[in-house]
Amino acid sequence: MRSHLVAGIWPRRFWAVFFAGAAAGAASYALLEHSPSRVIAQQPQQTAPTPDLAALAAEIETIKGRLPDQSHAMADVAYHFSNLWFAGQNEHWDLANFYCAETKSHLRWAVRIIPVRKDNAGQTIELEKILQAVENSPLKQLEDSIKARDTEAFEKAYRFTVEGCYSCHKAVDKPFLHPQIPKEPEARVINFDPKPDWPK
Ligand code: HEC
Repeated sequence: MRSHLVAGIWPRRFWAVFFAGAAAGAASYALLEHSPSRVIAQQPQQTAPTPDLAALAAEIETIKGRLPDQSHAMADVAYHFSNLWFAGQNEHWDLANFYCAETKSHLRWAVRIIPVRKDNAGQTIELEKILQAVENSPLKQLEDSIKARDTEAFEKAYRFTVEGCYSCHKAVDKPFLHPQIPKEPEARVINFDPKPDWPK
């Protein structure tokens, strides 16, 4: 009764197409179920495919060539660190907090790229250890000054951090990379005013 009703609602052509589709579906399922590829897949793998090590090594070399180098990461450090000075000068502490965290994470990234260097005399210089010392003292003081919203302490800690930057540059025999207090911020599109009137 019900099927008769339903059949009455839908045109006959619909049911013809519907049944044809169902039949085709069932047939392709049966085919798939017994297809050779399925039979092979169901069997336990005997041997893992041998990786082409030479091709993999070549691919890794290609990828390495596309990674940013240490000086690129350092230029990012300099970007965040320069902006940090102006955030502090404007007592925009949320922004200062952001740029300080970015400085720290980009320093870590830079050091991960080349953790160990040789100086001109061939001595091994462990950048991670130098960075640890910079994080433990100057950077820590900088973070504390931002938390305390203390401009005087901020300026002092910033100068101390610049000395920390330079101590590492000297250690790797690059004394010509002499950092200074920046004269203008790197980010031109960011407003350093903590209460700008636009955009709202
Ligand atoms: C742990 C060591 C270390 C610390 C700390 C460090 N740097 Fe560097 N920095 C380097 C090395 C090494 C290079 C050179 C990278 C190269 O030659 O590829 C460099 C290069 C640079 C450069 C030149 C990038 C370029 O190519 O123009 C700048 C700018 C720079 N650092 C800024 C800073 C600032 C700012 C700080 C502190 C907030 C800092 N660095 C702290 C190790 C350090």
